[in-house]
Amino acid sequence: MTLQNDLLLRVARGELTERVPVWMMRQAGRVLAEYRAVRERAGNFITLAKTPELAAEVTIQPVDAFGVDAAIIFSDILVVPEAMGLPYEMIEARGPVFPQTVRSSADLGRLRVADPETDLGYVLDAIRLTKKELNGRVPLIGFAGAPFTIFCYMTEGKGSKTFSVAKKLLYTDPHFAHTLLRQITDSTIAYLKAQVRAGADLVQLFDSWAGILSPEQYRTFSLPYIQQICDALGSEIRDGIVNHAPVPVTVFAKGAFFARHEIGQLSCSVVGLDWNMDPKESRELIPNKVLQGNLDPCVLYADFAQIRAEVKQMLSAFGHQHYIANLGHGIYPDTDRDKARCFVDAVKELGVAPGVSV
Ligand code: CP3
Repeated sequence: MTLQNDLLLRVARGELTERVPVWMMRQAGRVLAEYRAVRERAGNFITLAKTPELAAEVTIQPVDAFGVDAAIIFSDILVVPEAMGLPYEMIEARGPVFPQTVRSSADLGRLRVADPETDLGYVLDAIRLTKKELNGRVPLIGFAGAPFTIFCYMTEGKGSKTFSVAKKLLYTDPHFAHTLLRQITDSTIAYLKAQVRAGADLVQLFDSWAGILSPEQYRTFSLPYIQQICDALGSEIRDGIVNHAPVPVTVFAKGAFFARHEIGQLSCSVVGLDWNMDPKESRELIPNKVLQGNLDPCVLYADFAQIRAEVKQMLSAFGHQHYIANLGHGIYPDTDRDKARCFVDAVKELGVAPGVSV
């Protein structure tokens, strides 16, 4: 199916465009009352994520509500550990919890490499259904957690400020850490390839806990696995068409300001930046990639005029080409939806590129 709005895809492929595309990380399922209504109907988050009709519905809600240039499939990064044999629970007001964890080589016997067609078929069904219902309006973004971030949850068992249990294992049992990271990587490659076959137009890797690692540890325990995923997707063949352009991959490594140059050397198309990363400095460190980001989500608590002013400043710092506007991390749940809409509208108005007609 041809896309009516393929702006984001054209930018991700490195083309010059008539305007800066915009979407928001975590745009589905956080600020919209219509999301909460569907979630109520489903009963809980996991049932909602596992019911393709409902997942498709909440994926499309932000396209209608905000006019964003892409949808992101409603799911979670923690579906991969579950598919590997480690189920999770989502506890109200607390977040995800793994009743069982893996912390030594002896625990690895419980795990398997995920088979996406059987273990994650519900996400693939949700992608197919969403593509159908979007009917070409905007591209659909698939996603997964980067291996190190998934490793954090599988070993720690829950969210943490420091992830010191996970980090400790990097020092005390690096052999175990690499074995688990390899299994997560193999599962993630199979999963993302299946997402692409199901119709995802672009995929994003969330390395949400990159920032807890030292540069040396990041080089050892995160980057090589992200590289393997980027390489594997680059060669994926879509719809049986051999010459189809590879699906663009975005790498978002929150807090990895120290690794920007190396992230820029990965075989990905887009690099996501958080709000601690200066746009101009990032352009110098990552000269050959499309950049995505990076407005502080807290700017959306300011008044409308200030949001517009911050967007204007962000656009002038990044420039109007090779750039996808976004927040620097997920939108916060207590954000006023009109402020989110203001952010999107401001990019669409102020992000028109001078002198380019396509
Ligand atoms: O972006 C989207 O709108 C698509 C959906 C999406 C969810 N989780 C749905 C969700 C995406 C892309 C994610 C990614 C995710 N999940 C990350 C990486 C991005 C980031 O924020 O750094 C991480 C670390 C997780 C793990 C996770 N899932 C946590 C820590 C929590 C609890 C806190 C929170 O973010 O709400 C979740 C739960 C979760 N994932 C919810 C949603 C809509 C809330 C569940 C509910 O409705 O109660």
